Amino acid sequence: MAKKQHHEEHENHERWLVSYADFITLLFAFFVVMFASSQTDKSKARQVSEAVEKALKEGSSVSIPPAVAKVLGGTVDDKGQGNWERFVVERSSKLVEVRLDPDRKIFVESPVNPSCRVLDLRPISYLTKEGGLALVVDSTFASPVNFRPLEHGADVVIHSATKYLNGHHDVLSGVVLGTAPYIEEVRQKMVVWGQSPDPFACWLLERGLKTLDVRVARQNENARRIAEWCNARKEVRHVHYPGLEDHPDHEVARTFLDGFGGMLAIELVGGGRSAERFLRRLRLIKHAPSLGGVDSVVSEPRFTSHSHLSSEERAALGVPDGFLRVSVGIENVDDLIADIEQALK
Ligand SMILES: Cc1ncc(COP(=O)(O)O)c(C=O)c1O
Repeated sequence: MAKKQHHEEHENHERWLVSYADFITLLFAFFVVMFASSQTDKSKARQVSEAVEKALKEGSSVSIPPAVAKVLGGTVDDKGQGNWERFVVERSSKLVEVRLDPDRKIFVESPVNPSCRVLDLRPISYLTKEGGLALVVDSTFASPVNFRPLEHGADVVIHSATKYLNGHHDVLSGVVLGTAPYIEEVRQKMVVWGQSPDPFACWLLERGLKTLDVRVARQNENARRIAEWCNARKEVRHVHYPGLEDHPDHEVARTFLDGFGGMLAIELVGGGRSAERFLRRLRLIKHAPSLGGVDSVVSEPRFTSHSHLSSEERAALGVPDGFLRVSVGIENVDDLIADIEQALK
């Protein structure tokens, strides 16, 4: 689906559609409003992308965050298919040659699950535009309230509507955003595959969207308070939250996000054993997968998203045993902190 033509069409069509048929009107209106409010940033974004382009032409480096380098690395592994284009990017201070297949896309998450790293999309979008690739961004962790990647060079944005958009842990759904040619491709596939939510799911989503803004504002604030509190505890080895000044992407997050989000991760001293004990003792916060809803939930990536990796592989990716992903809800934050405190003791 990633073709140069798509990027050219991007310039001409600023028409947005949402993929799930019964849900089109509502989300269309919702995101058009958000898009309109972003127009003032466009010329700034263009200046930045020109600066990145200039830097690359002059031979200086553009640093690619590790999470992206990994995606690029994965692409390089698929040798021998398609028309390869060559790019030179700097990764961890050494130059690597990255060959990209223009028929493919670069798919990133930002913020990244579960590390909560935040990507600067500008250098990546420069590479994808140069190579005629589509840049696809899963921005579920941020919700559109905190981050709108289409404003920063993404071609297609994906949200699991199961999470913040619905916000009540009772719907499975998704949203795809982009220009008309991309969405038409998605729509055609949906017609063939028969993917559309049932009317009750649409009703639930519509209900959830009405409170998205206030829910996310509360979740941002609750998460910040919890992250700061955990950061001062001896039982917690590390807190991953973009709102903390020592987070590696704090500056990126400050620049590009409108809120630091309701997602954070903590690493407990004592590893897996401590995590098991902590989860057993929680009373208010639930031990459950999923995220982004009104209830706070904690999950252990070693048994969910990262269960296919060994303990060493997970640790190398920054997800050691004892790492817990926390999705902060809208409860009273003092109650949440009290629950965490009694579970840590
Ligand atoms: C960033 C991100 N995107 C997508 C998903 C999957 O969402 P769904 O189950 O609604 O397809 C998850 C699940 O945790 C996620 O963390």
